[in-house]
Amino acid sequence: MKILIVVGARPNFMKAAPIIAAIARHNERLRIGDRREPSAEPIEPILVHTGQHYDQLMSGSFFTDLGLPKPDVHLDVGSGSHAAQTAEIMKRFESVLIRTTPDMVVVVGDVNSTLACALVAAKISFDAAGARPLVAHVEAGLRSFDRSMPEEINRVLTDHASDLLFVTEESGLRNLQREGVPPQKIHFVGNTMIDSLFAFREQAETSTIRQALGLRADSRYALMTLHRPANVDRPDVLLDIMRGIEDLAAECPVVFPVHPRTRARIREFRLDSGVGTHVVLTEPLGYLDFLCLMKHAALVVTDSGGIQEETTCLGIACVTVRENTERPVTCTEGTNQIVGQDPARIIAAAREVLRGQPKPGRVPRLWDGHAAPRIIEIILRELLPRPVVRS
Ligand code: UD1
Repeated sequence: MKILIVVGARPNFMKAAPIIAAIARHNERLRIGDRREPSAEPIEPILVHTGQHYDQLMSGSFFTDLGLPKPDVHLDVGSGSHAAQTAEIMKRFESVLIRTTPDMVVVVGDVNSTLACALVAAKISFDAAGARPLVAHVEAGLRSFDRSMPEEINRVLTDHASDLLFVTEESGLRNLQREGVPPQKIHFVGNTMIDSLFAFREQAETSTIRQALGLRADSRYALMTLHRPANVDRPDVLLDIMRGIEDLAAECPVVFPVHPRTRARIREFRLDSGVGTHVVLTEPLGYLDFLCLMKHAALVVTDSGGIQEETTCLGIACVTVRENTERPVTCTEGTNQIVGQDPARIIAAAREVLRGQPKPGRVPRLWDGHAAPRIIEIILRELLPRPVVRS
């Protein structure tokens, strides 16, 4: 049985790694004859990297940190407009599918690679009878209800092209039901990104990033990331946010690993001289270094989706610089607050946390480090009686 797993951009790697590890454990249990294994079939994993992210800092270091195997296929698409990037991935991925004929294609998250590969797999025919792989979407059902976000379009379309939808939080179940997705396709399994966090949170303590940045073990600091087009692509918005962060940095050091998109905009808008006085700017960081910084931060300020979830799991206060979130459980149960782009609101929320009044939170249901084995169990159940779909 062949399962092809797609990764493309930075936030995919930590979501896919536990699935690949769960496949390896399944195969190992079969090899040693463990009777608890529900299926007698080994799984042949095929890892495809689209190359949407290609730098050592945005991609390579994550393979090392997460112990991911070298991709079996690299599509080398690189950057481009949404249309050009999505189309190029689709073209190159189609020939990989025809060559490898997997039983299932697993896509994760909400990036352009996710949608591109789901679409190709859902429409391909391996033979005249229309045989094609099943498509599984990991992290299905999340909705920001903001169609100006490219990721929202990717989420909706990927979900509706998929045969199996693996949901991380209960809002995802409601969203998919409301959109008419048949209930038998939907499985609430937890969060594979949190599986990675559980797997690596001890190892992250070996990171020397705090010393490298001149932070003492007991230093209080805020950690910030910013890369959403809505926050960084307009000079007035980016300048306002950066000014607010400079104010905050006068009270508490702010560590800001800068995403390539944000770095390019800071240069383009000539904000280089305005930032960096009190804010510690760094290159994008690897998984273990960033996890270490998150674990020890007094506060995280971000516009990332995944970081809202990781901080909730770690019990670290998170101030989200967006008008909405597709991950509402991080607010209703976790430590996350949505404050929007207004610098006054960002600073007010951050100061409240620094004054010792963080929002209390708890870890959401099934974010327990075991989402990937649940996914593999369901995939095996689906694939064994019915290896391919014939339409
Ligand atoms: C993409 C995802 C976003 C995710 C983010 C995480 C989509 C629609 N967006 O946005 O959901 O949160 O990744 O990083 O899929 N660049 C490099 N090196 C790289 C990759 C990109 O320098 O390895 C630069 C390029 O100049 C590129 C820019 O960063 O134009 C933006 O990259 P791109 O992949 O287009 O989108 P992201 O903003 O990274």
